[in-house]
Amino acid sequence: MKIKKIAILICCSFLLGTGNLLAQHAVQMKEQYRPQFHFSPQKNWMNDPNGMVYSNGVYHLFFQYNPYSSVWGPMHWGHATSKDLIHWQQQPIAIYPDSLGTIFSGSAVADKNNTSGFGKNGQVPLVAMFTQHDTVGEKAGKNDFQNQSIAYSLDEGKTWIKYAGNPVIKNPGVKDFRDPKVMWFEPQKKWVMVLAARDIVSFYSSPDLKNWTKESDFGKDLGAHGGGWECPDLIQLDYNDNKTGKLNHRWVLIVNLNPGAPNGGSGTQYFIGNFDGKTFTTDQKDTRWMDYGPDNYAGVTWSNTGKRKILIGWMTNWLYANQVPTEKWRNAMTIPRELRLKQVGESVFLTSKPVAELAAIQSKPVSVANGSTKITLPCRLDISMNTNNDFSLDLSNDANEKLVIGYDKNSNQYFIDRSASGKVDFNKDFAAKHWAPRLTNNAGMNLTILVDKSSVEVFADDGLTVMTSVFFSTTPYKFIHLQENEKNTFPKLKYTQVKSIW
Ligand code: FRU
Repeated sequence: MKIKKIAILICCSFLLGTGNLLAQHAVQMKEQYRPQFHFSPQKNWMNDPNGMVYSNGVYHLFFQYNPYSSVWGPMHWGHATSKDLIHWQQQPIAIYPDSLGTIFSGSAVADKNNTSGFGKNGQVPLVAMFTQHDTVGEKAGKNDFQNQSIAYSLDEGKTWIKYAGNPVIKNPGVKDFRDPKVMWFEPQKKWVMVLAARDIVSFYSSPDLKNWTKESDFGKDLGAHGGGWECPDLIQLDYNDNKTGKLNHRWVLIVNLNPGAPNGGSGTQYFIGNFDGKTFTTDQKDTRWMDYGPDNYAGVTWSNTGKRKILIGWMTNWLYANQVPTEKWRNAMTIPRELRLKQVGESVFLTSKPVAELAAIQSKPVSVANGSTKITLPCRLDISMNTNNDFSLDLSNDANEKLVIGYDKNSNQYFIDRSASGKVDFNKDFAAKHWAPRLTNNAGMNLTILVDKSSVEVFADDGLTVMTSVFFSTTPYKFIHLQENEKNTFPKLKYTQVKSIW
C-alpha cells in the first residue's frame, strides 16, 4: 500500500515537473520582443549561423553561442534542427572549446563518399570545419591565434568528435583568418573551401577534408573594404538568359563585411562570376549588396540541398548586437531565404525571397481596401502597385511609436525609417532612416513584408532589393496605414496573419 502511494506521488510530481517545464518554456518563448516565427535561442547570446547542412530530412542550424551570458563571450556551437526550415527545436550544445581555442564560425558537409574516412558501418559522416580562436595567443599579442580545425559526427549532428590532427590549416601569420565554408566541387571531385583573410578571401582545396592546399586569393581591389571580410560562401546558381532563352549558370561569392555596409556597420556584399576549381573571377565593377537593411549579417547557405540554395542570416548588426533590449537572450536569425539569379538588362543580380515553406504558418490573406487596418503581430503584408509613385506604409501603436517603410521616387530608393519606432536610445546608431536602391525600371512595384515582434523584412521587386531591420516598440504595433503619397490613394494591400512556431 505504502509503495503504491509513493509510486503515485513520484508519478504526480514528475508530471507536475514536466508540466512546469513545458509551461516555463511556453512563457519563455512569448517574451515581449521574442520573435514568433524566427529562430532565437531560449537564453543567452547568439551570433552567426554556422555549419548548416541538410541531412536525412533534417535542416541543421548550428550557431555561435555563449552559454554563460547574453553578451558575446567564449564561443561554442549551439544547435537547432528543423524539418521544414520554419519550426525549430533547440538542441544541446554541439561543439565545445578545447585547448586549441574557442569555436568560431564555420560550415558542415555530408561526406557521402566517406573521403575523410570518418564514416563507420555505412553511416555518412557529417564533417564540420571551423575556426579555433586561441584567446591566450591573442592576449599574448600573437598574429597566428586563428586556425582551422575539423570535427565529425556519426549521430546526425548530436555529438562531434574532434580530429586528432587539428588544426588542419595553420595560420600563416594573418590576424583575421577565419570562417571556412566548404563545398563539394563535382567537376573535379574535390572539396573546395573559401576562407576570410583580413579583407580578402582565400580558396583552398582538399581530397579528404584533412589535407588542404591553397589555390588562390580574391578581392584585393574589388568590392567594399570598409572593414574586415568575414563569413564568405561560394555557390552556383542557374538562371534563364533573356537573350538566348537558354539555361545559364553563374558562381556567386558571398562576402560579409564589418564595418562598411551601405547603412553602417555589418552587411553582406556579393560578386557574380566564374569559378574553375581554383580561382574565382568576375567582371562585376559595382559593389552589390544582398540586403541593404542594417540587420542581416554573416548569412551563408545550407549545404547538401542540391540546386536549391537557402541562406539564413543573423538578424542584427555588430554596431548594437550586444545592447539590444532583450537581456535574457540576444539576437535572432532572419527568415530562411531562397537565393536565385535574375537578369536585369545586361546584368545578373542575386535575389532573395522567404522560403515557400513559410506558407505552412500563414492564415488566409485578407484584402485591405482603404489602406488602413488593425493588425496582430506576427504578420505578412503584400503590397502591389501599378505605378512607381512615392508610397509609405506606417506600422504604429497607441504609444505614438511608428516604423515607416516606403519608396522615394526622386531618389529611386526604398527606405525603412525606425527613428521613432520605440526604444532607440540603447545605442547612438540605432535610430535612423535606412535606404536601398530600386534595381529595376519595371512599371509597378511589388513588396512582401514579414513583420515579427521585433523585426521587419522587406522583399521588393521579387527579391531584387531586400531590407531587414529590427525594432523595439514599447507595445506591439497594432495599426497599419498604406498610402500612395502623390495621388492620395491606397495601393493593393493584403494582410496575412502568421502563426507562432512556439
Ligand atoms: C562574424 C564573426 C566571425 C567570427 C565570429 C565570432 O560575425 O566575427 O568572423 O568567426 O563572428 O563569433
